[in-house]
Amino acid sequence: MVITDENVGPLYGKTAMDSLRAAGFEAATFVVPAGDSTKSLEWVSRIYDALADARIDRTSPLIALGGGVVGDLTGFVAATWLRGVPFVQCATTIEAGVDASVGGKTAVNHASGKNMIGAFYQPLFVLVDTATLRTLSERDFRAGLAESIKHAVIRDAAFFTWHEENADHVLACDTDALGALVEHNVRIKADIVSQDERETSGLRALLNFGHTIGHAIESLMARQADPWRHGEAVAAGMVAAAEMSVVAERLDRASAERIASLIARLGLQVTAPLAGQRDRIISLMQSDKKVAAGKLRFVLADCIGRATLYDDIKPEWIEAGLDRVLT
Ligand SMILES: NC(=O)c1ccc[n+]([C@@H]2O[C@H](COP(=O)([O-])OP(=O)(O)OC[C@H]3O[C@@H](n4cnc5c(N)ncnc54)[C@H](O)[C@@H]3O)[C@@H](O)[C@H]2O)c1
Ligand SMILES: [Zn+2]
Repeated sequence: MVITDENVGPLYGKTAMDSLRAAGFEAATFVVPAGDSTKSLEWVSRIYDALADARIDRTSPLIALGGGVVGDLTGFVAATWLRGVPFVQCATTIEAGVDASVGGKTAVNHASGKNMIGAFYQPLFVLVDTATLRTLSERDFRAGLAESIKHAVIRDAAFFTWHEENADHVLACDTDALGALVEHNVRIKADIVSQDERETSGLRALLNFGHTIGHAIESLMARQADPWRHGEAVAAGMVAAAEMSVVAERLDRASAERIASLIARLGLQVTAPLAGQRDRIISLMQSDKKVAAGKLRFVLADCIGRATLYDDIKPEWIEAGLDRVLT
């Protein structure tokens, strides 16, 4: 069963089905609406109905064809249908190709928050065909690059410089640049996840750099007429986290400016128009999944290429981070 959304299905559904049939598979398709609200138990249930109708048994793979929304939703269904059926990710967005499709986190949203219901469930394999990335809207394309900057900041200084040197090629969808971008990101993420799959040692938690403030910004900007993308909120969240790292005397000012400059260079905003909602942001952060035993945990950058998870965060550092990004 190929699960896709209403935008990706018309573009790549036929190619995927033809390819599966040519390889001797009998395949069906299920199309869901595009957008994060599809990551819901309601859509999980509708897919279960379709799997029952199609008599999907424990040997029949589910294939997610799309971005992070289709991947997270399909992965959760695959983890739970018949206690687990084989699962394949075909990522068609930058966000999914450089981050979401690798690592086995699957989830749907709950009224109390994003990704609250989920499972760790690894795909059998991940396919990222960079040719599909050319049909992305410019906004979705750029938003996904935030996760690539994140990987570079927490793990790989040379890859950060690569972004600075290759920004034009990436933004022009150059085939070699996109191939190198995806490959390098998958290596970094797979290296981290293979050492700390369940986020118990603190290593995988580094992937949350920019995401504590970022998630709060995302949920407030989701209510705007033109909602922000996940990556757009993470970009502003990383600028805030870099500022916090400077105030906490971990990171030098010049490196924080380099991070903000690269984010801007790749077409992402370094501020969020939420100055009037500072208290709301702080209370959203308190309810974030990353709160452990009531303590706020934050990933701060020590330098470009290395980050550390801290749980002794001073409120004034958070205030300084918010001062930097809220306008
Ligand atoms: N599981 C993880 O580890 C992980 C990591 C990061 C993000 N995520 C999740 O991923 C989701 C965001 O993913 P996303 O940014 O890919 O969003 P998305 O899946 O909503 O895709 C963005 C938009 O692009 C469209 N689209 C997808 N591929 C296309 C293509 N090739 N051409 C044209 N249009 C295309 C989609 O229909 C959608 O409208 C969030 O729900 C986030 O929580 C999960
Ligand atoms: Zn993210």
